[in-house]
Amino acid sequence: MSQLGSPHLHFSSIGSTNDRARELADAGAPHGTLVSADEQSSGRGRQGREWVAPPGSSLLISLLLREPPPLLALVAAVAVAEVCGPAAKIKWPNDILLGVEEAPAGKVAGILCEARPQENWAIVGVGLNVALDLAQLPSELRGRAATLGLRSQQRAQVLERLVDQFEQALTLPDEEILTLWQRRDALLGKEIGWSEGELVASGTALGVSASGSLRVRREDGSELELSAGEVHLTAAGS
Ligand code: BTN
Repeated sequence: MSQLGSPHLHFSSIGSTNDRARELADAGAPHGTLVSADEQSSGRGRQGREWVAPPGSSLLISLLLREPPPLLALVAAVAVAEVCGPAAKIKWPNDILLGVEEAPAGKVAGILCEARPQENWAIVGVGLNVALDLAQLPSELRGRAATLGLRSQQRAQVLERLVDQFEQALTLPDEEILTLWQRRDALLGKEIGWSEGELVASGTALGVSASGSLRVRREDGSELELSAGEVHLTAAGS
């Protein structure tokens, strides 16, 4: 398979790099195709949320992977966390946080994996706050965001490191990915809440399962695995 990051299409402004990468995938673009942008007008986050990043503040990229591994979301989180440094933690399923030990933690990166299993490809979209001036964010996001605190021009270096880390992580066996992920688990042992339809349930996070779902123990002692849906910390640290 070809190297990740080639071909590389960069846009000064685009709707969403994930949308562009999906179009390219449909048109037959090769494994490793990378789309990046300085600015997105309709950046998308998980669960239909908007992804907000002032122009030039962040790495905004999407990678096309053909024959993606089953644990792609975990692989991506491990690769992005490595780039964010030893203190970076992963909040299931794949938010990358800084400052977890000194709460309140802030989200430095978000990952949006979108797969087309019947065609055996997936897009990994990453928004990484490389040089974000937190004061530029809408007030409701400011307290929940973090930045690497680098300069805008350093986004290229960060991208190079991210592509390297991604390539490396893709070569690792699942057990190793799980171990690396678990070392950075921001939720382990914490009280969390999650939605079950209209209801909000709560329990203790027990770590990630071999298939990438989140294991939790309810207050009555029963255990379950969350494979989708919203999980939020009910205690400090979110
Ligand atoms: C999340 O945390 O909800 C995921 C955010 C993912 C944002 C990135 S920015 C680049 C790529 N293009 C998009 O429209 N979204 C992803």
